[in-house]
Parts: sequence; C-alpha cells; structure tokens
Amino acid sequence: MRGHVKISGAKNSALVIMAGALLCSGDCRIRNVPSLADVKLMGQILSALGVHLQQQGDILDINASEIKTSIAPYELVTQLRASFFAIGAIVARLGVAQMPLPGGCAIGARPVDLHVRGLQAMGAEVQIEHGICNAYVPGRSGRLKGARIYLDIASVGATENLMMAATLAEGETIIENAAREPEVVDLANFCIAMGAKIKGAGTSTITIDGVPQLHSTDYSIIPDRIEAGTFLVAGAITHSEITLSPVIPEHLLPIIAKLRDIGVPIIEDSPDCLHILSAEAFRATDIETLPYPGFPTDMQAPFMALLSLAEGDSLINESVFENRLRHASELNRLGADIRVKGNTAFVRGVPILSGAPVLATDLRAAAALVLAGLAAEGQTTIQGLRHLDRGYDRLDIKLQQLGAKIQRVPVDIRV
Ligand code: EPZ
Repeated sequence: MRGHVKISGAKNSALVIMAGALLCSGDCRIRNVPSLADVKLMGQILSALGVHLQQQGDILDINASEIKTSIAPYELVTQLRASFFAIGAIVARLGVAQMPLPGGCAIGARPVDLHVRGLQAMGAEVQIEHGICNAYVPGRSGRLKGARIYLDIASVGATENLMMAATLAEGETIIENAAREPEVVDLANFCIAMGAKIKGAGTSTITIDGVPQLHSTDYSIIPDRIEAGTFLVAGAITHSEITLSPVIPEHLLPIIAKLRDIGVPIIEDSPDCLHILSAEAFRATDIETLPYPGFPTDMQAPFMALLSLAEGDSLINESVFENRLRHASELNRLGADIRVKGNTAFVRGVPILSGAPVLATDLRAAAALVLAGLAAEGQTTIQGLRHLDRGYDRLDIKLQQLGAKIQRVPVDIRV
C-alpha cells in the first residue's frame, strides 16, 4: 500500500457529544462527525426521545428543545451502550429520565454501577426495574445537587455521564479518579462551548460548577485516535509507507511508542500528519492495556495481529475488559500461534499468516482480522462486518484507496 489516508472524527467523541447536546434546548451544530452505524443508531435513539437531528455530510444539527421523558427503545439501547451515557444529561435537564440498561456485549458485562452511584450522590433517586433504569430528582427544584464523587474505576462513560449531569446541577461537583481519555476532554470542551464551567478535564480530578442552563454552540470533534492507530498498524503489517492526517500526535503517544518498540519507524511530517515507513522485521514486545494515557484497550486486537508476525514471543495483558481476547482464536485460524490464559495472550511470532475464512466477534476484533488478512498469503474472508461498520468510517474503501486488495462481498455470493 502507499499514499495518504484521511482520518475521520472520533467515534467515542461523536457518541457522547450527541448525548451532551441534550443539555441545551437550542440548536447545536457538531462538525467532523464520522459516518458510522453507531452514530446513526445514537441518532435513532435520540429522535425516539423527541430530539430533532439533521445530518449533511459530516455536519450534524441537533435540537433537544422538545425532548420527552419517554423510554428509549430497548431494542436500540441494547445495541449501543453509549446511549446510556445520555441519562445524566436528561435527568439534569428534566429532573427525570428512564433508560433501559445497556446490558453486556461480546467484550464484557459492561456494568453501569458507577454511573448510578454517581447520580445518586448528586441527589437522584435511581431504581432499576424490569431492566429499566429510572432516575428522578425529588423535591420542588428537580435539580441535581453538586457532590464529591470518587470513581472506583477511571471509567470513561461514568466520567462523561456524571460530568454532563453536573453541568446543570446546583453547586460544585468534583469527580475524582476521573478518566483522562481525549474524548472526555473533547466532551468537556463541547460543554464549555455551551457555557458549562468545567476545570481539570484530562486530569484525574474534574471540577464542575453547575449553571442554570446551557446555550447553543457550533463544535468540531477531534480526529479518531483509534482509527489513526488502526491505519498505523495497517501500514506496519503490510510493510507500507503511508501518511495519515489529521491526527493529534499527543493522543497517539502509547501507540507510536509501541510501534517504535516493535521496530516500525514513524515520523511526524507536520503537527497533524504522521508518516509511517516500512520495517524489515517486527520485534516482539509486551502490552498491558490501561486507562489513558496507558496503552488503549481499543488497540489491543490490532496489535495482536501485528505481533503474531513478530520475531519472538509477546505477552498481551487485557486489564480493562474481562473478555476481549476472542480474536486470538480467529487469528490462529490464519496461522498465528497464540495461547490465551485468563486475560493474558501469549503470542509466539510466526513467519507468515495464511488466508482463511474467519469470524469477527466485536468491533476491534473485526479490525484486527482485516489487518491480519492484509498481511496473510492468499485470500481471507471475514464475516461479521456489522461490527466493523459500527466504528470505522469506510475502512475498506480507505484501504482500497491505499492499494490494498480488499473488497466487500455481498453475502449471497460468499465462497
Ligand atoms: C468507553 O467504554 C469506550 N466506548 C470503549 O470503546 C473503550 O474501550 C472504553 O471506554 C475504555 O477506554 C465509548 O466511549 C462509547 P469504561 P466504557 O466505563 O465507557 C468497568 C470501542 O471499541 N465499569 O471506561 O463503557 C467496565 O466493565 C469501545 O470503541 C464498571 O465496572 O468503558 C470496564 O471493565 C469499546 N462499572 C472498565 O470499567 C461502571 O459503572 C472500563 O470501562 C462502568 C465501567
């Protein structure tokens, strides 16, 4: 492959900023929105709640002036965990909210106890009945109260949900052991653009001074660091020289450091453009996934594909989610030599991978199988592309434009 690839807006910013738009009753314009199945699904869920949305290309206009307290459709919420991140904004705005519990998914149980406990700390009564999370604020004002909240786990979603709720609460909220992900900062900047008073986003302690209401804004989302990381691995695994932009290199530090560790040269051509050069061979290395600024769990599967072709043994420990190593068995179908014990994968590098039919089990596993297929000798056929389309904006088209031999096969002529 060779050439330049354009990185889209961050999925995990878009989804939570769409929820954040519920905090204001005016028009919000969100730019650089990626074209993803999850974004469409979030739009359907919000419109079921009475929110008006209009999308032209990568610009999304949202108006939540007529938001209803009806229950979002369970069959939609269960497909998109991020929809639960809207409950904080809704209960802050209306004093009442009902949201089906998102339930688990392929990578883990995905509990929401930290979200619930945080809302309770802010004065909401929360009951869970028949799979529905009912939150309401007792008392005449119907307004949440600022609180000091410590998160047992630096949860991205809980940090975002509670930060949104706190923007309209009465008084000061302090969230300690908050998640530091760039998407948390992006959401904070969006809320600040609407008039919220937030300090410390990106650090472990976020302070929010509640205000009575927020106003319209026009905001552009950061580039997707996980899409960028995925293309860096695509370049590495195919020994290609490609450039990619826009990126924010600071958001990619653990990914760039790990690739350089493996022996893949990466140059910053300009403040928002990365340039990856071909590496003769890949050195084995160890990976431990951690909350930001540690190595991102969303890049674990793509790196497992790359390390399956390294010289030597690598050890990958998935410490964030309890069931996010299922792609190992599919990579083994392509000739990799990976053994999984608990949350750890032992990857013994092999000289080549060979094409085979494989099945994607979740979003980043699907990406890992695409990357392995690009490197494998012979043809690889991947099923479960719905996972891929949830989180990557036309990944196959962008790879084709770089010269990769990849095409979508209509199901009825699958070989
Ligand atoms: C966000 O999920 C991302 N999703 C995930 O991206 C990402 O992998 C994850 O953060 C970690 O970075 C969105 O932003 C939409 P967590 P989230 O709460 O918020 C446990 C992708 O591929 N936990 O930080 O759900 C939880 O079970 C997706 O793009 C509780 O125990 O992740 C997990 O083990 C996948 N109780 C750990 O914390 C809670 O109340 C971290 O989860 C909440 C979380």
